[in-house]
Amino acid sequence: MRTVAITGAGSGIGAATAARLAADGYQVIGVDLRGADIEADLGTPEGRRAAVAAVTEAAGGSLDALITCAGIAGMPGRPTSLLASVNYFGTVEVMDGLRPLLANGDRPSAVAISSNSTTTAPNYTLALVDALLAGDEAEARRVADEVAGESMLEYAATKLAVARWVRRNAVTPEWGGAGIRLNAIAPGMIATPMIDEGRSDATVAPQLEMFQQTIALGRPGRPEEMAALLAFLAGTESTFFCGSIVFSDGGTDALLRTDDFPVPWVLPT
Ligand SMILES: NC(=O)c1ccc[n+]([C@@H]2O[C@H](COP(=O)([O-])OP(=O)(O)OC[C@H]3O[C@@H](n4cnc5c(N)ncnc54)[C@H](O)[C@@H]3O)[C@@H](O)[C@H]2O)c1
Repeated sequence: MRTVAITGAGSGIGAATAARLAADGYQVIGVDLRGADIEADLGTPEGRRAAVAAVTEAAGGSLDALITCAGIAGMPGRPTSLLASVNYFGTVEVMDGLRPLLANGDRPSAVAISSNSTTTAPNYTLALVDALLAGDEAEARRVADEVAGESMLEYAATKLAVARWVRRNAVTPEWGGAGIRLNAIAPGMIATPMIDEGRSDATVAPQLEMFQQTIALGRPGRPEEMAALLAFLAGTESTFFCGSIVFSDGGTDALLRTDDFPVPWVLPT
């Protein structure tokens, strides 16, 4: 039986993935603020340490898969520093903390959740991306609140930092070199409580309405569709994926950024 730890398991994509993997026969260890096997606030260093310790104890020495779904959207009045701590540090510190357990797993796989906002939300702050990747949480939070813009815009910066962290680490001796696959998915708009929260706000609702118009398939995604992709990446049939950022967005990125990926590598001649 494979064992998986899932953060953000209490709602949306994480809950659908927990249900899917339990039905597939996994032992699922769920982590969330409340209502999960392990309750922890991944927005704080203490909460992350407690979560890592509790998963380590529950997993009994090895973990075959880790999926980090915990995250929050930008909202009016919500500080960008909170997104920095939850979306970025709440992902990478749990990844780092559980890597030794994954190293003992069977064809181990870790999957983070990035977002197609990384390529389709214009003009967010690259200085915040750099500050997150530099790894000093206090400084990154300062940049988030004093240099970057509102959290609705800078959500994408936290998700680009996650994607870059995945690509930088996937190829290192500690991850890929140790046989641990590290990848991310980049969902488009998925119908979850996170989107419901946005729809209930007078500022965010029209932006979501506009964003929905960019979905070539004509509808938001379903959490179960992300769960199916995550089940594939966490499982034993995706064993050559390493450092991939897998977009699943109903066509938004292809529609808005048609020829921007793949791009040729041009070297000086
Ligand atoms: N829904 C979308 O359109 C969409 C698109 C792209 C990426 N994503 C990402 O997918 C992931 C899942 O989002 P969702 O749409 O299922 O949202 P959701 O709000 O339904 O679920 C998020 C879960 O994360 C948990 N969480 C939030 N802060 C936490 C904290 N500090 N500590 C522990 N747990 C915490 C919440 O309690 C919740 O259960 C997020 O990372 C989100 O950014 C979502």
